[in-house]
Amino acid sequence: MLILGLNMFHADASAAILRDGEIVFAIAEERLNRKKHYGGFPTLAIKACLEAAGAKISDVDHVAVGQDSDANLARKVQYALANPAKILNFIRMRQRKEAMRDVRLLLAKELEVDSTQLRFQEHHLEHHIAHIASAYYCSPWEKAAGFSYDGSGDFVSTMMARCEGNDIEVLDRVFLPHSLGTFYTMICEFIGYKKYGDEGKVMGLAPYGKETYSHQIREIVNLKNGNFQLDLSYFKPLGSNQGMEVLPDGTVRMARHFSERMQKRFGDPREPHTEILQRDMDLAFSMQQRFEEVFFHLLNELYKRVPIADLAMAGGCALNSVANGKLFKTTPFRRTWIQPAAGDEGLAIGAALHTYHSVLKQPRKPELKHSYLGPEFSDSRIEADLKKAGLRYQRLDRQPLLERVAEQVAAGNVVGWFQGRMEWGPRALGNRSIVAHPGLPNMKDVLNARIKHREWFRPFAPSILAEHQSEYFEHDHPSPFMLHVYKIRPEKRKELCAVNHVDDTGRLQTVARDENPLYYDLIRAFQRKTGIPVVLNTSFNENEPIVCAPEEAIDCFKRTKMDVLAVGPFLALKTEN
Ligand SMILES: [Fe+2]
Repeated sequence: MLILGLNMFHADASAAILRDGEIVFAIAEERLNRKKHYGGFPTLAIKACLEAAGAKISDVDHVAVGQDSDANLARKVQYALANPAKILNFIRMRQRKEAMRDVRLLLAKELEVDSTQLRFQEHHLEHHIAHIASAYYCSPWEKAAGFSYDGSGDFVSTMMARCEGNDIEVLDRVFLPHSLGTFYTMICEFIGYKKYGDEGKVMGLAPYGKETYSHQIREIVNLKNGNFQLDLSYFKPLGSNQGMEVLPDGTVRMARHFSERMQKRFGDPREPHTEILQRDMDLAFSMQQRFEEVFFHLLNELYKRVPIADLAMAGGCALNSVANGKLFKTTPFRRTWIQPAAGDEGLAIGAALHTYHSVLKQPRKPELKHSYLGPEFSDSRIEADLKKAGLRYQRLDRQPLLERVAEQVAAGNVVGWFQGRMEWGPRALGNRSIVAHPGLPNMKDVLNARIKHREWFRPFAPSILAEHQSEYFEHDHPSPFMLHVYKIRPEKRKELCAVNHVDDTGRLQTVARDENPLYYDLIRAFQRKTGIPVVLNTSFNENEPIVCAPEEAIDCFKRTKMDVLAVGPFLALKTEN
């Protein structure tokens, strides 16, 4: 049985395909069409899913979309009626949603087949149920608390659920305009980070700030009886799309979120690319602090209703790895399973898994232990691309390749590491990664100057052999998808100085051998040379979506000052090219 899951006409459009409940392949459209956060129809992603499954669209039994324009309709109507200026906007959105609702016609048109050949059953699932499904059904648990939060989806910003067996029972929803994601986005915009997805950058800025504005920022989000409400006077009234719009070319555009009141209270907003002042850092600090307070408050409420120590979580805000790393101390939850694609690309997997388990009542599957669900490329294809690019390279067997790369990293060189299947979700986890020495004081500057060109305040992340985690970090809950930030132990901070953030933390990836043997063995080889069971891992890209195909990796290697490229079994050195 084939199920195709989709996130479409929404930021981070994506597709995923299940065969008899197993995830065969999943990918965001941006990796294929190279447009970051692309929000149109995921035509290329669908084609890649079908190719990986060796199937045609006419073979697909079910198509599941992680969006349901009818969900929470009464709430949407109520909001529109209470805000007459928004009625026209509301009607336009409904018309657009209706137009995209006929998935059959869309697929027939995009894949150039006759729609009468398509025999699949169509399913639409509410946004946040799809988020929770994307985590719970991939987890090893038969029972868990389910939590999802983001800016907005199907008019909801937060959902709590009880997950048991094949079922997800929704316990509570927070409706728009109240949204913790919108709160975070609004302050990010105010301090000059206005693009979709910029929130992750500002999370890195927060620890440079102080508590100066904590009192004032607390007033913007009020806690009440296990719930929260925004003080809307700080926000511009937004349409039912909550300030985010997908343009006809698939670009995601953000509207201004903050109101005049923010300016009266905190002065003029910072313009992008101007100097970051202490005021901006302090606002970032208090924003992250308040975000965490509300998040923990909600989780404690969830635990009261579902007293199970296992938390299945997704939604764009679940990428807040700083908050995730602290929840073990501030809530009764002891284990988390967070979907690696916690943002909206994850809806494709969530909708597909929900169809399989909840709608069709099919048995649960083993835990998803890795995120390598994307494409891979044959050695012959890689070699042809290297030749086409005119690069000098060597072909090496597995062990010599690991030794050579580890030697280069130990010598302080920067290596592009392209191996196996691409990661699903926003993090590079050792298959489309740039790796470097984590203990050289200038490595962060070197990476930024030569390749990444990121803001000075953003930290780089460590990948650590799983069995060494507690020697280096103050918490031992694993973080296989790089979704937790923990304190680095004081005695190890110098050894990991290139990945030790200003608050002595690191957003770690724990690498277990059975999850990625090649990457594990690379770190092991590096450890044999340096004594450090850790490498610095950053995504393989330069201000673009993470590289997907070998030619993109080769192009990134050629255009930047990367020292070494290890692509499949082939090794190319900048000194020879
Ligand atoms: Fe979402």
